[in-house]
Amino acid sequence: MWTEKYRPKRLEDIVNQSDIIKGITNLVRSPDIPHMLFSGPAGVGKTTAALCIAMEILGDEWRKNTLELNASDERGIKMVRERVKEFAASVKLATDKDFDKPKIIILDEADEMTSEAQTALRRIIEDSARTTRFIIICNYLSQIIEPIQSRCVVFRFTRLPKADVIEHLKMIAAKEKVKADEKALEQIYDSTGGDLRHSINVMQAAAGMGAVNAANVNAAIGLSGRSKVGDILKLALAGKFNEARIKLLELTQVYGMSETDFLKYANQEAYDMKLENPGEFAALMAEYDYRLASGAHPEIQLAALLAQLGRLKKN
Ligand SMILES: Nc1ncnc2c1ncn2[C@@H]1O[C@H](COP(=O)(O)OP(=O)(O)OP(=O)(O)O)[C@@H](O)[C@H]1O
Ligand SMILES: [Mg+2]
Repeated sequence: MWTEKYRPKRLEDIVNQSDIIKGITNLVRSPDIPHMLFSGPAGVGKTTAALCIAMEILGDEWRKNTLELNASDERGIKMVRERVKEFAASVKLATDKDFDKPKIIILDEADEMTSEAQTALRRIIEDSARTTRFIIICNYLSQIIEPIQSRCVVFRFTRLPKADVIEHLKMIAAKEKVKADEKALEQIYDSTGGDLRHSINVMQAAAGMGAVNAANVNAAIGLSGRSKVGDILKLALAGKFNEARIKLLELTQVYGMSETDFLKYANQEAYDMKLENPGEFAALMAEYDYRLASGAHPEIQLAALLAQLGRLKKN
C-alpha cells in the first residue's frame, strides 16, 4: 500500500499542517513534554504525527516504549486500564542506562469511548503521569470530555489544501514511475476532499489500471465510491442489515469514505435505481443528513439508516 510506504517518518516531512507541526516540534523538544490531543477529519496525518512524535522522542527505542491502543477495538475501559497499567509498570528495555524519556501511549479513536470510560481514562492519565505521556486522537473534539481536553495540549488538524495534495501525489507518482496527468490529479482531489489517504488510494487504484489518467481515475472512484454505496443500498433495501452494515464499515473505515460522501452517493444511486417509494426514501435521507450535520455519531447514525431502509421495503 502506497499510503504505508509513503507515510512520513519525521515531523518535518508531514504535508501541510505547518502550524501544528511547529507547535508539536517545540513541545517535543521541551524538557517536560505534555499530553496531547489531536482532532480532525480522516486521512490528514493525525496518527502519522503521533508516530513521528514517538520516533522523535524515543529514537531507536520507540517501538518498545510506545503502546498503540485503539479505543474502539478495545471497547471496555477495563481493557485500556489493564493495558496501560501493565505498560506503565513494565521496565524500560533501553540499552542506555541514562534513558529517561517518558513512555508514550497513543490512544486512537478516543471519541468512540463513552463519557464514563473517558472519566476513568482521566484517572488513568493522572496515575501514570510520572512515566507516560498520552497522545489522544479523535475525529470529533466535541465528543471528548472537558477534563481530558484540559489536561492536554489540543491540536486541530484540518483537511489538506489542493496544491499540497497534488504535489504529494506527484512525488509518489514520480517515485513509483507512473504517469499522472495534472487533470486526473485534480479530479482525485475534487472527489476526496482533502483526505490524503483516500487520494493516495485512488491514485494507486488508477495506476493499477495502467496510468493515472481521467478515465482510470473515474473508474477507480466509481469502483471505490458510488458503485459500492449502491451495493450497500441494495442490501439494506433487501433487509440484509448485517451484510449492509459490514460493507458500510469496510467502506468508511478501510477505504476511508466520509459519512457525508456516503449519503451523497446513496442519494445519487437511489434515484438511478428507480425506487418504489422515492418520497419516503428522500425523507429518510434528509433526516439522517440533518443528524450527521448536527454532530451525532456517524457510525451509529448510518447503521440506523440502513435499518430504516430495510423497513422501507417491507412497508
Ligand atoms: N499530512 C500528511 N502528510 C503526509 N502524508 C499523509 C498526511 N496525512 C495523511 N497522509 C497519508 O495518509 C495515510 C494515513 O494518514 P494518517 O494515518 O495519519 O491519518 P489520520 O489523520 O490518522 O486519519 P484517521 O482519522 O482516519 O485515523 C498516511 O499513511 C500517509 O500516507
Ligand atoms: Mg488515524
